[in-house]
Amino acid sequence: MMRLDKLLANSGFGSRKDVKKIVKAGAVMIDGEPAKDVKIHVDPDKQDITVYGEPAEYREFIYVMMNKPQGVLSATEDSRQQTVVDLLTPEEQRFEPFPAGRLDKDTEGFLLLTNDGQLAHRLLSPKKHVPKTYEVRLTSPLSPEDIIDLERGVVIEGGYKTKPAAVKTITESPDETVIHLTITEGKYHQVKLMAKAVGNEVAYLKRLSMGAVSLDPELKPGEFRELTEEELAALKDAEM
Ligand code: URA
Repeated sequence: MMRLDKLLANSGFGSRKDVKKIVKAGAVMIDGEPAKDVKIHVDPDKQDITVYGEPAEYREFIYVMMNKPQGVLSATEDSRQQTVVDLLTPEEQRFEPFPAGRLDKDTEGFLLLTNDGQLAHRLLSPKKHVPKTYEVRLTSPLSPEDIIDLERGVVIEGGYKTKPAAVKTITESPDETVIHLTITEGKYHQVKLMAKAVGNEVAYLKRLSMGAVSLDPELKPGEFRELTEEELAALKDAEM
């Protein structure tokens, strides 16, 4: 059982305020009778609820892919700084999504925002080894030994040895070194600390993918869209 306004808002019929108007207009029918009050409790599994004749289908979860821009916090709220949830519209915010994992404030790229705590937990669990690939622009060139070290694992600040990783060289010139680094864990500042462990430094960092799902190249920093069904299925598989 849930309040009628919650059901309708989570079925895509607008905010609770919008929904109130729709009910007032007599457009919402419950088992063939017009609903009179948004505060009543209904059971969408047992009652036939329609809006302008269209069935109200309750959605519990939302899954949003965002190209996180630099300068925005991976958090739900902050008293001073803009967060990734602030970038969403009220339509997504009403599902109370949170970022599944964190990107640093100055990191860009793939961020999943969802209210599906179970999926988020499994994607982030170190036991699941879900690969995450980053585009990493470094301040200095990498030697072949550095690449081997990064791939085998390096000891980062705090004494932790990173798990095997994959390095793909994208650009290698005296003034620009760009790699794709795939890791299966997500220690705090991991990529930056791995670069530091081989005497280098990250100049720019962008997450390109999580599991089998890549950042949509159409999304500019700050833009987002819901995952497709295929992408969601791929992410759910990635935790296995
Ligand atoms: N590693 C980092 O150092 N920063 C991020 O934002 C993500 C991975």
